[in-house]
Amino acid sequence: MKHGDVATALLDWYDGHARELPWRVSPADRAAGIEPDPYRVWMSEIMLQQTTVAAVKAYFLRFTTLWPTVVDLADAEDERVMGEWAGLGYYARARNLLKCARVIRDEFNGIFPRTRAQLQALPGVGPYTSAAIASIAFDRPETVVDGNVERVVSRLFRVETPLPTAKGALTELAETLTPQSRPGDYAQAMMDLGATICTPKSPACGTCPLTVDCAARRAGDQSRFPLKTPK
Ligand code: ADE
Repeated sequence: MKHGDVATALLDWYDGHARELPWRVSPADRAAGIEPDPYRVWMSEIMLQQTTVAAVKAYFLRFTTLWPTVVDLADAEDERVMGEWAGLGYYARARNLLKCARVIRDEFNGIFPRTRAQLQALPGVGPYTSAAIASIAFDRPETVVDGNVERVVSRLFRVETPLPTAKGALTELAETLTPQSRPGDYAQAMMDLGATICTPKSPACGTCPLTVDCAARRAGDQSRFPLKTPK
């Protein structure tokens, strides 16, 4: 397998199958030069950290309607924002959301920084979220690794090391797959593949764009991956 083939096959698939999500710029719009709003990308990634796409949608629309820009959010009353967050859970995220909005307003002139290192210094933004914002909002070739990506990569390479020990190796393998061209669409395509095709149980290998590249599929034991150390 050539690694570039995986990215090309995944991007071709994404062009026809990208999920329509309220925070997402479609691949067609992206190709036409429409750029994602970093504020909306950041907001969605914070909300999606511990909450499903289905549950996040309504909250995302409400927040971005009430506070269309990061400065609007920074200027909001704490109690108002915490009240709107009710139901999403993990309230530390909401407190960091406000803290981060105020740092962007006060230290960055209301403009999100673009590099992964600068992003990761922001409240509530860790390795996963900084990579997601850098790639999706700014089309930088950073590698997003979440549980979905770990599963896809562990199957592609048939990684026999169990999680969590395999985390470092899976991250390195994921990095080798990340393309220089369209890294933002690629990151979102990996997420969609993990959510809709390369699912934990009974993955839909028959419709997967990476079937011919997948070592686990060739061995017929895709559902065995990723291996996990028993708790
Ligand atoms: N899960 C986390 N971030 C996501 C995104 N940007 N699109 C779809 N699912 C996600």
